[in-house]
Amino acid sequence: MKFFIDTADLDEIRDLAATGLIDGATTNPSLVAKAGRKFEDIIAEICEILPGPVSAEVTATDTETMVSEGRKLAKIAANVTIKVPLTPEGLKACKMLSGEGTKVNVTLCFSAGQAILAAKSGATFVSPFIGRLDDIGLRGMDLIDDICTIFRAQAAFKTEVLVASIRSVGHVIEAAKLGAHVVTIPPSVLRALYHHPLTDKGLAAFLADWETTGQSILDDKDSASSAAAE
Ligand code: E4P
Repeated sequence: MKFFIDTADLDEIRDLAATGLIDGATTNPSLVAKAGRKFEDIIAEICEILPGPVSAEVTATDTETMVSEGRKLAKIAANVTIKVPLTPEGLKACKMLSGEGTKVNVTLCFSAGQAILAAKSGATFVSPFIGRLDDIGLRGMDLIDDICTIFRAQAAFKTEVLVASIRSVGHVIEAAKLGAHVVTIPPSVLRALYHHPLTDKGLAAFLADWETTGQSILDDKDSASSAAAE
């Protein structure tokens, strides 16, 4: 399962890219507004930091303008993926841009029927928003289950399920169990994935016990030889 980072905050992206775990990024107009910088500059910088797919969303609502915006954004870098909304106009734009060889992420998917339409339109990714379904009292993860089942049953569908609107570590684990291709994770949730109180407690105990031995694994000789190697 691929990990995308769901933010337009360049400091966060730089920091988390250093983990070596990030395969791409997703942005949306709300995240860009929060970042407070020129959209194209943000996308260009993210594309330099991360070699994988970086989603940049169109803001027009008619097909022709969406396609023009998509073509312009796609020129920023080879790894730009164009994000279009799951509307009839957006899916027409998806078909046209995909036909030109541009990767397309169809966003704002809230039903299995919509996901089927995105796959039929040649989308590279479809983004079901699970957190927003949970917010209205539904089970977002049931939608991921349905879409993964359908895509497995339909060999002709090449679209990847990109689980979006993730709110918790549990969402990431459930998406992995269901076989989703990609999760796009907010930085706070990605950091939370590392943590378990027993890891902290266990490490503190190991280090305290090690201290009592008075030993160290590296000695002066090791420091000298590593300095020489540099
Ligand atoms: C990603 O592509 C989406 O835009 C994002 O995950 C939406 O998340 P939200 O529902 O927390 O805004």
